[in-house]
Amino acid sequence: MTLTLSVVGCGYLGATHAACMSSLGFTVIGVDTDPEKVALLQSGKLPFYEPGLDTLLEQEMKTGRLSFTTDFSAVKDADVHFVCVGTPQSKDGLAADLTYVKSAVAAIAPHLKDGSLVVGKSTVPVGTAQALRAELSKIAPQADLAWNPEFLREGFAVEDTLTPNRLVVGVANDRAEEILKEVYEPVIALGTPWIRADLPTSELVKVAANSFLATKISFINAMAEVCEAAGGDVTVLAKAIGYDPRIGSRFLQAGIGFGGGCLPKDIRAFMARAEELGAKQALEFLREIDAINLRARQRVIDVVRGELSQDLTKYKIAVLGATFKPDSDDVRDSPALDIAVQLHAAGAKVVIHDPQGIEPARKRFPNLDYAPVVNDAIKDADLILHLTEWKEYRQIDPAAISSIVKSKIIIDGRNMLDRTLWRNAGWKFHALGRTD
Ligand code: UDX
Repeated sequence: MTLTLSVVGCGYLGATHAACMSSLGFTVIGVDTDPEKVALLQSGKLPFYEPGLDTLLEQEMKTGRLSFTTDFSAVKDADVHFVCVGTPQSKDGLAADLTYVKSAVAAIAPHLKDGSLVVGKSTVPVGTAQALRAELSKIAPQADLAWNPEFLREGFAVEDTLTPNRLVVGVANDRAEEILKEVYEPVIALGTPWIRADLPTSELVKVAANSFLATKISFINAMAEVCEAAGGDVTVLAKAIGYDPRIGSRFLQAGIGFGGGCLPKDIRAFMARAEELGAKQALEFLREIDAINLRARQRVIDVVRGELSQDLTKYKIAVLGATFKPDSDDVRDSPALDIAVQLHAAGAKVVIHDPQGIEPARKRFPNLDYAPVVNDAIKDADLILHLTEWKEYRQIDPAAISSIVKSKIIIDGRNMLDRTLWRNAGWKFHALGRTD
């Protein structure tokens, strides 16, 4: 008999997981406390932007296998319950806020049927799964708990869920592993590596992977700083070291650094947890990774001041990009938006363009100016900042926009624009980590 699944928490991770599991043929019930989100999903619409997921959701809603509700008792028929709620940074420190994970498990506990398995997917501090499992054994001894970290990237959420580069399950016994193998059978059949771990290791895999990625980005941004001081070119350096297969060329794109809902908060929560465990020194380097990352934003602002003036009050700056990366409408901890906000606070007139992120950015920063069309954002600008590498920005013809701006100065915060093209059109072109 095919398993019935529940997905608790229908945000980015949960909505993706629910639609993808339905596409594998399971009956899936998604539960969330937010009635607006549930109503949207139930009508087949996504509350956020993610390429490909909109059509998958629409398609799966038509099958009748997938549904969404705010009623937690609806999980009662499910065999496996995926917990996909958020674990944001707490308001008073670096640690992760576990309120939503704890309340999600507490909310489904009274409805768990005999032999059902609760599977955490949220990114949590190591030790959380074991503690939750112990708690569950008291309030719902008929159920078990496992952990199954997800590694999905925004912009590639469907692909990363249905064809992940590995599946990691943290389990306390064979039965939990067998159930998860049954769920992921079609994915395993594609040859996806399957890694069984204990509960703490499975939690650690996720934060270790994100720490490594953050380290790689900050490493290349540190090299960018040295290139600037020494008269080098970080893009050439990255290309050259990337040919060494032990290093690899991916995640060596120097620029304004990493942001989003995962990397920044995950490395901070990891440091906080290591300190609690008495292993603070082991992760001291992550403090530097965080500092390098934040410094990249400051370096852009320094170049702006160097080009315009220390006093920015008389200048108009056009910011291309608000989201933390392209193909997303996510502005959480976005380096691009942070730079825009800092320039605005310094008195500059800042106008932001983004293909998907204007409304989410406006919600957070209603006092900034936004333009839905690039040419409106750059009209009469004293300087353009390219801060999120949307494809459409690479298609801008620098010659064609020369007459719209006030001064032909551009700073490429992502090292993605064609420098020669811009310079040939008479623009002053700066990029991070490149001195010539
Ligand atoms: C990340 C992890 O990649 C994913 O496995 C995990 O599940 C969640 O966190 P995501 O937040 O979607 O995914 O973004 P990612 O593609 O990793 O990019 C993170 C940030 O790093 C972005 O702001 C991006 O612009 C920046 N970045 C990435 C660089 O600055 N340089 C690079 O070379 C790569």
